[in-house]
Amino acid sequence: MSKQSNSSGQKGAATADTALVALYRQFANMVAPVWWFADEHIADLPMPASLNDWQCFTNRCDIAGQLRVAGFITELSDFDTSAALSAPKTVCYRVSKEKALVHYLINQALSALPLGGQLVLAGHKNDGLHNYAKKAAALVGASAEIKKHDGSAYIATLTKASQPTEKLPDSDYTQIQEIAQAPSLFSKPGVFGWQKQDRGSALLIGQLPRFLGASSNTPLTVADLGCGYGYITVMAAQQLPSATWLLTDNNATALLAARKNCDTYGLNAEVVLADCAAGLIGPVDVVLCNPPFHQGFAVSGSLTDRFLAAAHRLLANQGRALFVVNQFIPLERKALGLFSTSEVLVEYDGFKVVQLQK
Ligand SMILES: C[S@@+](CC[C@H](N)C(=O)[O-])C[C@H]1O[C@@H](n2cnc3c(N)ncnc32)[C@H](O)[C@@H]1O
Repeated sequence: MSKQSNSSGQKGAATADTALVALYRQFANMVAPVWWFADEHIADLPMPASLNDWQCFTNRCDIAGQLRVAGFITELSDFDTSAALSAPKTVCYRVSKEKALVHYLINQALSALPLGGQLVLAGHKNDGLHNYAKKAAALVGASAEIKKHDGSAYIATLTKASQPTEKLPDSDYTQIQEIAQAPSLFSKPGVFGWQKQDRGSALLIGQLPRFLGASSNTPLTVADLGCGYGYITVMAAQQLPSATWLLTDNNATALLAARKNCDTYGLNAEVVLADCAAGLIGPVDVVLCNPPFHQGFAVSGSLTDRFLAAAHRLLANQGRALFVVNQFIPLERKALGLFSTSEVLVEYDGFKVVQLQK
């Protein structure tokens, strides 16, 4: 499971991302046109004021919404730089958690920048910032100037001196790939835990027979909230072959893979990009959900609340939900403000599966 997952066992209050703070402080000095690769971590801080001749790229619809409200021209896609309005003179990027994505975006930047153009990377030592900067510099005959900032943040500035003849290995970033067989599952870099079957989600699937057996009505409509590449839907569809599916996530990259999995299995499925299912209309009989507990780099209790509220809103009267969360999240207590009953079905391996009745 990736570091962003809700099985990392991390706890704690939200703290500002000092690497992002340091990057924002450089913004005014950057030579336009600027491309800004804005990953999910930017949710951690208030948005800076927009600047002329900047274009942002993000795969998260909520981040795109925030950037647009702040006035930034924003491309919402799987970091599709072919949609750029102009070639950049500067590219800035607070490095992501996932190496394949970081390598892909560095490759995109180094190929798009002109000679003399600058790549500005921000991060901490444990993000691998120094390593990324050195590898990127070697590709374009540059040396990385790395400066330390408040909060042990680092900014690396590279000036492109030659065209890159090689690329950093990006796990075939743009390709949807088969990551498992029997059952066959498709995913791609840029998706939560893209090469894995999430242990929490697997625990939820293991409880599905008991959950379904507790009601005499077979659900006809099922929503998968925070679907990622669609693991929960694919596995649950084996037990509910006649159901209609609604999959939703805020990550456009994830939905490419979720669509592929639904098509592979011939599911009657709608796949919708949305922030915590905002704008989606029910009712559905059942909600299945493995919610995130990180927003950017910060642990976010309010995200759990938002997913609970979305599940409640989408469910039909008498509808039921099955959630899996880290054991330390008091989901069953939080749910009682909305749902009539809430029951922990199993606790195992740091997770718990909770059944909710509207
Ligand atoms: C713990 S993962 C579960 C993924 C998937 N269900 C699985 O089993 O592999 C949580 C998912 O929630 C998504 N997510 C995070 N914040 C979200 C938001 N605000 N709205 C919708 N989805 C979100 C993430 O992109 C991620 O795919």
